[in-house]
Amino acid sequence: MTKKLIIGNWKMNPKSVRQAKDISEKITRGAKKFKNISVVIAPPAPFIGATKGILGAQDVFYEKDGAYTGKISADILKSLAVKYVIVGHSEKRYPLSGGGGDTDETINKKLKAVLNARLTPVLCVGELTRDHQSHYLHFIKEQIIRALKNVSKNIVGKVIVAYEPVWAIGKNAKNALDGEEALHMNIFIRKVIADIAGATTAKKIKIIYGGSVDVKNAEIFISLGKMDGLLVGRESLMPQKFLGIIENVNRA
Ligand code: PGA
Repeated sequence: MTKKLIIGNWKMNPKSVRQAKDISEKITRGAKKFKNISVVIAPPAPFIGATKGILGAQDVFYEKDGAYTGKISADILKSLAVKYVIVGHSEKRYPLSGGGGDTDETINKKLKAVLNARLTPVLCVGELTRDHQSHYLHFIKEQIIRALKNVSKNIVGKVIVAYEPVWAIGKNAKNALDGEEALHMNIFIRKVIADIAGATTAKKIKIIYGGSVDVKNAEIFISLGKMDGLLVGRESLMPQKFLGIIENVNRA
């Protein structure tokens, strides 16, 4: 059985390095007993060194090195023992809910930089809204195709796809997805991957769900939605709640 993957995306939290250390210690200690689950924490970049457990990064810059003030390369992340790198999160695609963020082209470059550094990219895709004509499916398909452009077929399987419908993310979201919708999206994304990289890769690629995951709904994405894991925002900053999510995934 392959391990389930649960990633906590801390975004611009907590307020201090001491809190980051404390929260991550509680999570890693509590998660140790769940042998079939990999728990990853993606803290703000300056806290990476102080965060315990398997490390993720929230973003990366695609150049190898040079005069890029404020940017962080995949090699820098690797030297800090980071294993997973989120690329294309909607809050990077549409910063402050406006334009000017990551495009499909920059996401493609970032994803390739992460693979080149032999780290694991977590590619976030998801529609802003849904429509009855299913145009959103085409939107997601295009996001995946463009993100994976010129990625050699035999390494597409190393990418983790995080399906995160933008309307379901954050504290203003009305709702998370339901289990059946999650299954539907899981099958749809595998079909897109099959067209790009073949049926074997489509079968084995990890697809995880993110957007308003909590203790109550976590299990359903795994049992009904057949997801390989979860990307958790708000609830990953509260050790008890995050551990509750991990426990429920373990039971699913
Ligand atoms: P949320 O965030 O769990 O707070 O909705 C998820 C995400 O943005 O990855």
